[in-house]
Amino acid sequence: MATVLLGLTTAGTPVVAAPAQAGERTVDFDHGWRFALVNTTGADAPEPAAADSSWRSVDLPHDWSIGLDPTAGPNTTAGTGYLPGGLGWYRKTFTLPRSMTGKKLSIEFDGVYMDSSVYFNGKPIGTHAYGYTGFNLDLTALAHTDGHTPNVLDVKVRNQVPSSRWYSGSGIYRDVHLVATDPVHIARHGTFVTTPNLAGTIKSGYATVHVDTTAVSESGDNPAQLAVTVRDAAGRPVTSRSSDVRLGRNAATTGLDLRLDHPNLWSTDTPYLYTVDTTLSVGGRLVDQTSTTFGVRWFTFDADQGFSLNGTAMKLHGVDMHHDLGALGSAIDLDAVRRQMRIMKSMGVNALRTSHNPPSPQMLQVCEELGIVVMDEAFDTWRTPKVRYDYGRFFDADSDADVTEMVNAAKNSPAVVMWSIGNEIPDSTSVTIGVPIAKRLIADVRAADPTRPIVMGSDKYRSVPANGSAQDQILRMLDGLGLNYNTAASVDALHAKYPTKFLFESESSSETSTRGAYDSPDQLNSGENYTPGRRTASSYDNNLASWTMSGQYSLKKDRDRRFFVGQFLWSGFDYIGEPTPYDDVFPVKSSFFGAVDTAGLPKDQYYLFRSQWSADPMVHLVPMNWTDHRPGEPVTVWAYSNADTVELFLNGKSLGVRKFDQKTTADGRKYLETTEATGDDKTVTGGPYPGSYTSPNGSAGKLNLTWTAPFAPGRLVAVAKRGGVEVARDELRTAGAPAAIRLSADRGSSLSFVTAEVVDANGVTVPDADNELTFHASGGRLVGLDNGQQESAENYQSSSRAAFNGKALAMIRGPLSLTVTSPGLLSGSLNGNPSIAGPAVKASPGADASFSGAPNTLPAAMLDGVTTSGGWSNYYSKAATALLPAVSKAHASDWVSESWPTTRRVDELGAYFTVDAVHSLPASIQVSWWDGRAFVPVTNPKITWAAGSDQPTRVAFDPVSTTKIRLDLSSSHPGAGNGFLQIAELTAG
Ligand code: GAL
Repeated sequence: MATVLLGLTTAGTPVVAAPAQAGERTVDFDHGWRFALVNTTGADAPEPAAADSSWRSVDLPHDWSIGLDPTAGPNTTAGTGYLPGGLGWYRKTFTLPRSMTGKKLSIEFDGVYMDSSVYFNGKPIGTHAYGYTGFNLDLTALAHTDGHTPNVLDVKVRNQVPSSRWYSGSGIYRDVHLVATDPVHIARHGTFVTTPNLAGTIKSGYATVHVDTTAVSESGDNPAQLAVTVRDAAGRPVTSRSSDVRLGRNAATTGLDLRLDHPNLWSTDTPYLYTVDTTLSVGGRLVDQTSTTFGVRWFTFDADQGFSLNGTAMKLHGVDMHHDLGALGSAIDLDAVRRQMRIMKSMGVNALRTSHNPPSPQMLQVCEELGIVVMDEAFDTWRTPKVRYDYGRFFDADSDADVTEMVNAAKNSPAVVMWSIGNEIPDSTSVTIGVPIAKRLIADVRAADPTRPIVMGSDKYRSVPANGSAQDQILRMLDGLGLNYNTAASVDALHAKYPTKFLFESESSSETSTRGAYDSPDQLNSGENYTPGRRTASSYDNNLASWTMSGQYSLKKDRDRRFFVGQFLWSGFDYIGEPTPYDDVFPVKSSFFGAVDTAGLPKDQYYLFRSQWSADPMVHLVPMNWTDHRPGEPVTVWAYSNADTVELFLNGKSLGVRKFDQKTTADGRKYLETTEATGDDKTVTGGPYPGSYTSPNGSAGKLNLTWTAPFAPGRLVAVAKRGGVEVARDELRTAGAPAAIRLSADRGSSLSFVTAEVVDANGVTVPDADNELTFHASGGRLVGLDNGQQESAENYQSSSRAAFNGKALAMIRGPLSLTVTSPGLLSGSLNGNPSIAGPAVKASPGADASFSGAPNTLPAAMLDGVTTSGGWSNYYSKAATALLPAVSKAHASDWVSESWPTTRRVDELGAYFTVDAVHSLPASIQVSWWDGRAFVPVTNPKITWAAGSDQPTRVAFDPVSTTKIRLDLSSSHPGAGNGFLQIAELTAG
């Protein structure tokens, strides 16, 4: 449908092509813009003069924030990833051909973040505040269509930070189109396709396709002919109808029913898509035509039986996703969206909640193609704001239009199965404010689409609402309700009180993790590590904030309740911003909630959900690291699998078979689980498993199998079997030193995603490699780098990036020819020649530690010269969560190190250990020194223990010349509340 710019006028102004064929109406308007970033504070300012050097050439979609450096300061927040917003102006100059004279011309924005004002040929033509809804502005009256006079379109965009609780991006970040139609035309959003009574008609082998067409004649009364043709996925016409219509200045809607025999149904397994072509003709002349994708499907949400699609019951295996695309920021890109959702689909995902705003057209398109049902959400806030500059400022004036726009933009999508009027809305607890707003929004949605249920996502139903309360009144108006982080008991209580409302979890889990980071496997709730460079969260499904729950708990709660429609995991991908649990610790700037990191690399949580959601046989070993352990160290090894039996082998020797039990839910569905107390729900006080989540069938257990494996280098292999037959295996190998870079590409139509892995001489990925990688693209253009590390101040658009836990990702636009180099490593190349660069040079930090449990007990404090207070400590105190008690248990061991820029001779260390209610002297100290390749133990160590707190414990040893020295410390009370370690000062002599 779209045509593009054609050539230049003699004055050099781009000429917009007239639509090539009669009835073509849309011109891609993404190219050839100028952009000026006026400031990053968002302070209001006039448009820079045309000659101002701040203007640069850009193509849309464009997000100016993603190219800026993360910065801590008054105009950035952790919530939005420390990336600035600001004030930007866009300008496009173009010439319209004479053939556009007499046309109705308008400009269509899919989304501008945010608070935009548009000017055409010097006159204001409209404003649009909400960053997530499309809008259209009429250009007709002001347009020059003489073929030579330039037209100038200016867009002012203002993102005052914080305007959002997550990274929003800034600018014209979605597509722009010029729409040129005849005065007699189909209205914007003027086609609405439904398949009424499908559950009934399909039994007789057909679907009724009902097409409502809204059209207008701006030139007054006009007889016209309307024709609609349904095409199958191959483009063949399968049914059509036409009708004479009488059009006038007021838009009129005509409904036509078409019979579609033996339709292919759209489903999550077979997402079959049809198209409706609509044409409008006047006196035999084609004046307008549109194409609309739709699907033939029906669904039900039943308060007792849950969700069914085309008559087949299914659970929603959903994810919540924000809209950023990692290193691309929010600039929409079809390939990047497709990659995200393919990764999600491979996890077993069949549903998406567009948290907490309407999605891009590309996201809807991808969900339609892949078979992913969508909960399309309007707002994160109503009138009462959540952050200072958010949409709350505009809500009263704009929300009717914005919620209607959300529905109109997606009403034909077979993927969309419910509309949400908001997420965790503060106003929704107010009878006087929230109830009337909910009523109004529900009416708006129903007016635009009477066919889909209306819900909201809420954290305000953790206990059953009192009759007449705002929550009670709002729930009675809604069709169903999405719960955020409710306990199993509270879900059951709500179901009992509201037996006609369907319930689901609009946000589940929110467990936080870092790819490749592991901590306290035997604890359900681990502490956090504040050591710079190690601000990570554990991947044993055990790093939780006060309101969050483990992935396993969320899966079990949903699984056991037939009436529960399903869940949306918070979140599918990590997103930029909201870096819980390190809120406000610069530069920790992306979330830890994802099953997959921001670079699209799966974390262990991906495999947990896949084991429960996907039928393809799989087994996955946790940790994904069989390298960084000491010989003999007992390593807690888990397997996630959808097979009932897994055997673990270390270097060919069996470490034992573990099995899941075959169990049956109260309503007769089969599932796999171990049988054991889990300790994961303190709200359970009775029954056979007090303190553990207990299924309605009386059983309790885990979704992982467990071994304790003494570490030895080599191969750790998990073999999964069903009925004695191997169906899947996973293997971990011990890596040697980093030797080379291996590249693998996932190619989209215009964007390629290249994963770079640091491997040893045998091709084994080095699980903790952090080598600095430099990317050289030729042919195509490097548009972004990422490594999934949440703690990073690196610029997404630089040409080098450190690997994180062995991996990094590059995005290349255009032809893929890429070489990645790193000092000391054999380079990786796609269409190039590998070579070896010079030796690695690494800056060494002054002090480091394996773990520090609080932001004020960092390793650097061991070197501050103060022996009597403060210092490094591994003490942490984890608050209670809804399901788990508070925890503060000493690690069995930790290490600290000190390093120097040049080699020095050392033969004694002094460590000022604190001894008090929570800290003790260590049970043992081992000193080792860096020999240039590894830490090796010092010889003849002699320890003189301190007599009291903050007195030096001295370790003397045979002298070494080194740049780094390390102390491995074991706790004298591991697992207890008083065995923590604190070193007020570390001295080296
Ligand atoms: C919810 C909220 C989400 C996200 C999540 C993190 O309360 O709706 O937007 O902030 O918490 O756990």
